[in-house]
Amino acid sequence: MTPLPVDVTDKVAMEDLFGRPEVAHLKRLDGVILSAGICEYVHVDNLDPTLFERVMQTNFQGAVLSTRAALPLLRQSAASASRPAVLAAVSSMSTYVGFPRAQAYGASKAALSYFLDSLRCDLAPGISVCTIYPGFIETPMTEQNDFPMPMMLSAEQAAHRILSALEKRPRRIVLPWRMHALLTLARALPGIWYGMAIPRLTRQRRVAP
Ligand SMILES: NC(=O)c1ccc[n+]([C@@H]2O[C@H](COP(=O)([O-])OP(=O)(O)OC[C@H]3O[C@@H](n4cnc5c(N)ncnc54)[C@H](OP(=O)(O)O)[C@@H]3O)[C@@H](O)[C@H]2O)c1
Repeated sequence: MTPLPVDVTDKVAMEDLFGRPEVAHLKRLDGVILSAGICEYVHVDNLDPTLFERVMQTNFQGAVLSTRAALPLLRQSAASASRPAVLAAVSSMSTYVGFPRAQAYGASKAALSYFLDSLRCDLAPGISVCTIYPGFIETPMTEQNDFPMPMMLSAEQAAHRILSALEKRPRRIVLPWRMHALLTLARALPGIWYGMAIPRLTRQRRVAP
């Protein structure tokens, strides 16, 4: 494994990523998983535009630049392998319904999901595009959260499920299933989600120590 540290928001560095001497020998890429992301919560009384820029730059534009960098090598793989190459990216179940203070993070992941849905149309059949929708995963990102995080998976559980699911070249991966089912129901019943569940969640947060 050859690590190539890079800031995914740096247009110039991303342009040159696979030209670096450590990887100049690479003739193809069979799979790419885009996972770089940040989460910042918004205060609605101050819709800080620089916060929105940071989150969109990393979670959305970073994925665009990464895809641009990887596509030529993914195409090489698609042309020579018997199975499709994989382009996967980590979106979020926060895109299913509105969540409090997630105006920037949720919007960036919704943009990412649409980007992938649209890419899927243009890259098939050689490159299989997969959108990964996690619920809560135990990582440094979720350490900052001050609210209950039901059905949380460990990073190891999540990584194992994602990698084994990718073998089948799915269009999407959801994990865990129970959270997917719950939030799909919430999306179908917006009156209950926004009228009952969200007021309860925000009340809980206000009384939490
Ligand atoms: N944890 C969850 O519950 C959860 C749920 C849904 C979706 N996700 C998504 O899963 C992905 C992984 O998140 P995580 O939970 O593993 O969070 P994490 O522990 O905070 O990891 C985020 C990773 O992204 C990298 N990163 C951030 N900005 C970057 C940039 N500009 N250029 C390059 N790398 C950058 C970080 O690198 P450095 O450490 O070097 O900064 C870090 O390795 C994210 O896209 C996140 O939105 C997470």
